[in-house]
Amino acid sequence: MPILSRGGFPRILYIDGFSGPGKYENGEDGSPIIALKAALGFRPTLTAEIEFLFIEKDPARAQFLEDIITAMDLPKNFRTKVFGGESFEAVFEREYHNLLGTNGQLPPTFAFIDPFGWKGVPFEITQRIMANRNCEVLINFMYEEINRFLSHTDQVENYDIFFGGNEWTKCQGIVEPRQRHDCIRDLYCDLLEHRAGIQFVRTFEMLNKSNATDYFLFYGTNSLLGLKKMKEAMWKVDDRGDFTFSDATDPNQLVLFEKEPNFQHLRQQIAEKFRGQEVTVGAIEKFVVVHTAFRETHYKSKILRPMEVEGQLQAVNALPKRRKGTFSLDSLRLRFSPTAS
Ligand SMILES: C[S@@+](CC[C@H](N)C(=O)[O-])C[C@H]1O[C@@H](n2cnc3c(N)ncnc32)[C@H](O)[C@@H]1O
Repeated sequence: MPILSRGGFPRILYIDGFSGPGKYENGEDGSPIIALKAALGFRPTLTAEIEFLFIEKDPARAQFLEDIITAMDLPKNFRTKVFGGESFEAVFEREYHNLLGTNGQLPPTFAFIDPFGWKGVPFEITQRIMANRNCEVLINFMYEEINRFLSHTDQVENYDIFFGGNEWTKCQGIVEPRQRHDCIRDLYCDLLEHRAGIQFVRTFEMLNKSNATDYFLFYGTNSLLGLKKMKEAMWKVDDRGDFTFSDATDPNQLVLFEKEPNFQHLRQQIAEKFRGQEVTVGAIEKFVVVHTAFRETHYKSKILRPMEVEGQLQAVNALPKRRKGTFSLDSLRLRFSPTAS
């Protein structure tokens, strides 16, 4: 929000399609209140007009949320609307055209889609949102339930709607649990990339105490900066320890989010990718951000510097005053030794 607000966008849209009541019995805030409090907390304050759309099918929950929001002291540029008693799909269909700007596009939008299962989440909605510029989605993919009901014959149509086609049936017959898990995860990721045309999709996996997959979060954006920000958020590890949270985009590179990243793992990936090649620091950064679970803050001092000191890479076009082990210029070219590891 601050990036878009500072970037001159006059209007920003936040959609919470399955908003819940806003607060739970144990006093914990629900997603709408978390979002509002986060937006209120930015300094300098946001100047763009922020529209928050909260959709909650259960009328009592929606009313509860409405009451909490009414009691909040929100600035004039925050506009909130709770759609109670209606489904995400119905509200989206009806309101979509009202939300478009004069350019025929949605304003920059962050859509959080957090259903109980697979019903009421047509893939087509994600496609429509992501066909607009500067939009992002965060989808809670309730793996455990989706997997459990995949072979139920009365759910075929619902699954077709959820996946936007019938490709999911190829995972139905897989009995081996790990293969089935990978099939379902990779399929949804692939559909987000290719059917919804999203440039960057990352998959985060939440494991429960018995090490079983509870759910995935799929994040989709067309902005490299958006991707960096999401990864920054994911690396702010919650260390309560009830769950294990990992980046699951690439099955061969499962990376746990821990207080201290596993730099050895990233070093291995960088060495494998660039061994014997000459590349710019900018290209290495893009690789790290887009193709690994790691961040743009993880690879310079902890990986490139020791590799240079050990003679595993050389700076090619460095300015005379450059200090060894510094990589501030994106255009700096590095040559990795053919045996870099
Ligand atoms: C997993 S909960 C959402 C939790 C919420 N995002 C939070 O963090 O507090 C799903 C919510 O969606 C509501 N719901 C179920 N089907 C819906 C639909 N088709 N459209 C909108 N809301 C729906 C449920 O009543 C429930 O409150």
